[in-house]
Amino acid sequence: MAFERTLSIIKPDAVAKNVIGKIYSRFEDAGLKIVAARMTHLSREQAEQFYSVHKERPFFKALVDFMISGPVMIQALEGEGAVAKNRDLMGATDPQKADKGTIRADFADSIDANAVHGSDSSDNARIEIGFFFPEIDIYLR
Ligand code: PPS
Repeated sequence: MAFERTLSIIKPDAVAKNVIGKIYSRFEDAGLKIVAARMTHLSREQAEQFYSVHKERPFFKALVDFMISGPVMIQALEGEGAVAKNRDLMGATDPQKADKGTIRADFADSIDANAVHGSDSSDNARIEIGFFFPEIDIYLR
């Protein structure tokens, strides 16, 4: 397993439910270290750019509208197999299909308000982390 970083976003629904700390504990308990973090309210332009790979999908506008509906908590996580580990912690995109004990099963209400985002590959993680954090704001082991 590679030692790597991944980008995680705690989405507006989970921030509104006041479960940032509970989600952070899951990262820490799984051996993932938070090496950068920032709370922000995304602009429409930022959200559209971040999700531009999905711009032809039917849910694109709903996804962007949701992501700008309130503040989000953005973090870079670091550890062995961080991308896959974070995806395992998150559970399936649709919380109805997410395994018991995953973040989405426990904190998400629907596929369009699904609590967390996580990079799907190491290459995308590098791009997504660079989108939000200059290298100087990332703290190393
Ligand atoms: S993935 O990871 O790209 O394979 O996931 P995918 O299922 O293709 O979904 C891409 C992102 O779109 C979100 N999504 C939706 N948003 C609103 N409505 C609907 N129906 C919907 N379906 C999928 C999904 O959560 C992914 O966003 P992120 O932030 O990466 O989780």
